Amino acid sequence: MRPPYFLSIVELRALSDCAPNTLLTLSLDLGRTRQPIRRTEDALELPGGFQLPLPPRPYWAHPDKRTILIFRDCQWEKWRYFDPQTNAFYKPVFVAEGQPPTVEISGIKMHVTDTGGPLEDTRRKIQALGKVNGRVLDTCCGLGYTAMALGRIPTVFQVITFEKDKTMLRISRENPWSRDLFRSTTIQVLRGDVFQCLSGLPAGIFQAVLHDPPRFSLAPELYSVEFYREVFRVLRTGGRLYHYTGNPRKHRHKGLPERTLARLQEVGFSRARRGYRGVCARKG
Ligand SMILES: C[S@@+](CC[C@H](N)C(=O)[O-])C[C@H]1O[C@@H](n2cnc3c(N)ncnc32)[C@H](O)[C@@H]1O
Repeated sequence: MRPPYFLSIVELRALSDCAPNTLLTLSLDLGRTRQPIRRTEDALELPGGFQLPLPPRPYWAHPDKRTILIFRDCQWEKWRYFDPQTNAFYKPVFVAEGQPPTVEISGIKMHVTDTGGPLEDTRRKIQALGKVNGRVLDTCCGLGYTAMALGRIPTVFQVITFEKDKTMLRISRENPWSRDLFRSTTIQVLRGDVFQCLSGLPAGIFQAVLHDPPRFSLAPELYSVEFYREVFRVLRTGGRLYHYTGNPRKHRHKGLPERTLARLQEVGFSRARRGYRGVCARKG
């Protein structure tokens, strides 16, 4: 089966600027690879002769900077989903050329994009975690960018990551930038609720935990003493934790990093301190 094809504003602009029968070098996988493609009157001709129809005109006449088009079921459509079970709207969002997309779930962005995009956000989270090896837990998979970055560290032999949302898993399977998440033999993606699943894991099996939960108002249980106790239990002595908290500006969530530090100390973590947009701590 062919993978889905994608077009962002970058390719749509290139297509609208060129005359029919022009040969272009275009990416159909959001900038991961580029290939020579001939734009005919009404199609895109790929190497080998395979033809994709051009997207409908309205998509190019007023291209939206953030929207990504996906070619699926023989037609172009906006890459987005609504899940009546979670009552949430999922929109993969184009960030910048050369950057992986992020996702907005009901308008809330999954990665920090104001200071360099998801790649830089991921790099800084891993850096805040510090030197890691052995088996690592990435609590909340999302698009898998942190899990894949952890899996590329030569001293890490296994990354276990949880995702409870089936639509997020679907988007990750489609996302060209998440491919290694399902191909890497180092990474194990488990569908499930990390809050419920941690208690089923043996104590001390992880050398490090990267905790990148949704914002506090959406998943308060992932900021609870009960959850931190489980994280402490599954960490090996000497193991490290990085916990993204963001810096909520809403009055009632202000001081979240400070409250998180206090809760981590309450369950036994030491060396708790502020790290990149969150907090870091050690067990022992
Ligand atoms: C901020 S994102 C993680 C981003 C991820 N680090 C990355 O690199 O793309 C949080 C993710 O956690 C998932 N999630 C929320 N609650 C969860 C839970 N209890 N167990 C597992 N996953 C959860 C959400 O569906 C979302 O995909």
